[in-house]
Amino acid sequence: MCGIVGYIGHREAYPIILKGLKRLEYRGYDSAGIALYDGTDIKLSKTKGKVADLEERLEKEISTTGTLGIGHTRWATHGVPNDVNSHPHYSNSGDLVIIHNGIIENYESLKKELIKRGYTFKSDTDTEVLVNLIEDVKKKEKTKLGKAVQIALNQVVGAYAIAVFDKNKPNEIVVARLGSPLAIGIGEDEFFIASDASPFIEYTKNAIYLEDEEMAVVRRHKGIKIRKIKDDSLVAPYIQELQLNLEQIEKGGYEHFMLKEIYEQPSAILDTFRGRLLSNEAIIKMAGVEDNMKKFLNANRIIIVACGTSWHAGLVAEYIFEDLARIPVEVEYASEFRYRNPIINENDVVIAISQSGETADTLAAIKLAKSKGAFVFGVCNVVGSSIARESDAGAYTHAGPEIGVASTKAFTTQITVLSLIALRLARAKGTISSSDYRTHLLELELIPGKVKTALESDAYVKTVADIYKDAKNFLYLGRGYNFPVALEGALKLKEISYIHAEGYPAAEMKHGPIALIDENMPIVVIATKKGHYEKVVSNIQEIKSRSGKIIGIVTVGDKQVKELADHVIEVPETIESLTPLLTTIPLQLLSYHIALMLGKNVDQPRNLAKAVTVE
Ligand code: M6R
Repeated sequence: MCGIVGYIGHREAYPIILKGLKRLEYRGYDSAGIALYDGTDIKLSKTKGKVADLEERLEKEISTTGTLGIGHTRWATHGVPNDVNSHPHYSNSGDLVIIHNGIIENYESLKKELIKRGYTFKSDTDTEVLVNLIEDVKKKEKTKLGKAVQIALNQVVGAYAIAVFDKNKPNEIVVARLGSPLAIGIGEDEFFIASDASPFIEYTKNAIYLEDEEMAVVRRHKGIKIRKIKDDSLVAPYIQELQLNLEQIEKGGYEHFMLKEIYEQPSAILDTFRGRLLSNEAIIKMAGVEDNMKKFLNANRIIIVACGTSWHAGLVAEYIFEDLARIPVEVEYASEFRYRNPIINENDVVIAISQSGETADTLAAIKLAKSKGAFVFGVCNVVGSSIARESDAGAYTHAGPEIGVASTKAFTTQITVLSLIALRLARAKGTISSSDYRTHLLELELIPGKVKTALESDAYVKTVADIYKDAKNFLYLGRGYNFPVALEGALKLKEISYIHAEGYPAAEMKHGPIALIDENMPIVVIATKKGHYEKVVSNIQEIKSRSGKIIGIVTVGDKQVKELADHVIEVPETIESLTPLLTTIPLQLLSYHIALMLGKNVDQPRNLAKAVTVE
């Protein structure tokens, strides 16, 4: 939920860390700070606000020299966002400096103990407790930093990715992880530390991803030593070659990452099914599914666990799996599932959906499912992420980095992967005819082109956005496959424009929400030709008779809704199960334009962070 960056080597650390923090700002952006060390003085500057605020202030405040440095961009957990609570944090002696992503759950009891021993605290953070605990251990045990970190972490309950250095050891940084990601980039006589590889991608393609409960001492000129935190055993470093490139993590001429990612959807969806969907041979090839076919076919049911937008993709998948493969599906908020003592056993298949692969609740849900014997299949975007590693098998979405906090291409690529799985299972179970199966494959292949066409409505969506941008509330309605799209459209609008919005199944309206409708209420209704069209038209009529303003998302050439609605936005025609891939596009664009017109920070909405690695 925070971003951490570190550098030790022969270059000036400041520009590397500053740029790295900007790339990691999606992880948190309520405060930021940097500590630099030139072997003589530690220079530390931190502030409430964004990395740009830090940059402005830091260069006036401190000299930016030093070939060792650490930096942090924060999403507050313990203590409000202010200068004092920002990271890095000093230990009481001023010798140790730390940055931390995660939560130390037992920090209060540790803090009480430290206070008894004479330690004082400036901030309200759990992190300042940790750095003083390390200092205390170091003094008591008269040991080196690495050992002190290890002993201290064995007393800690919670989650962390940390980087800490000692003023008396100008050639080393100690890092550790449990539950929060930490990558180490390996250059020529230099090392980079970060929450993901984006801060160092232009310097090296070689990286080590620390596993949970591992720590590393990173030494200038001497290299890296990785150990298990619990039992002190040495771990052989596994160096991976990164597939990421610089272009993927830059805006590429777009004003915002969100817009770039909306426009990337045709190619992202293509990348998702490339090599998996072989339409000439009418084959779907997914190793994770093939290798575990028996598990899927013998499953009593599939339980989907996810959060936010990924949960909405799970809801779409429920329709697809039940419709095509005739397997019962339950879709659960991971945060509820993990705490409600679910009835689950080895005959269940759990599909965990997560863009980041780091969402704490989803991770906890799959650990619970595994402990009860269920088979866990992960659908993640970030390669090598915690959920991907914790799952028994899985399929990546291959959407490329998603940096805008509002999920867009993650949603459509998740639906694409889940459609492929459902179709493959349907074929194996014989619940789909070969001609229907072929039609689905051919239609899926056409989706990237159709998404491109749907994007052509952008200018018109902008004019609609201009008309409704000052509305205080929005309703989103859809039925069947497009009910989850209504939920997703409402989530997109509220998270980036802060306008209150609700999604409902269209027919539920008359059970309550209809009371909200008057001439000031814009209602986005998804009314594509396939799937309950006539029924949705009746719902539109009900809204019309109560003076609600209707924005219809319709199939190209639609006439009936056009006559009733105040505005219609057309999407190309496709088979019913694939309509969410098209109807979601105008909803993404609508929320983007409204947020922009209201002057909101589209890529970094308030109070949010891209990867929710805390409960
Ligand atoms: O990385 P994940 O897919 O697990 O993230 C889940 C949610 O936090 C995420 O989808 C969130 O709801 C997005 N901000 C929505 O746009």
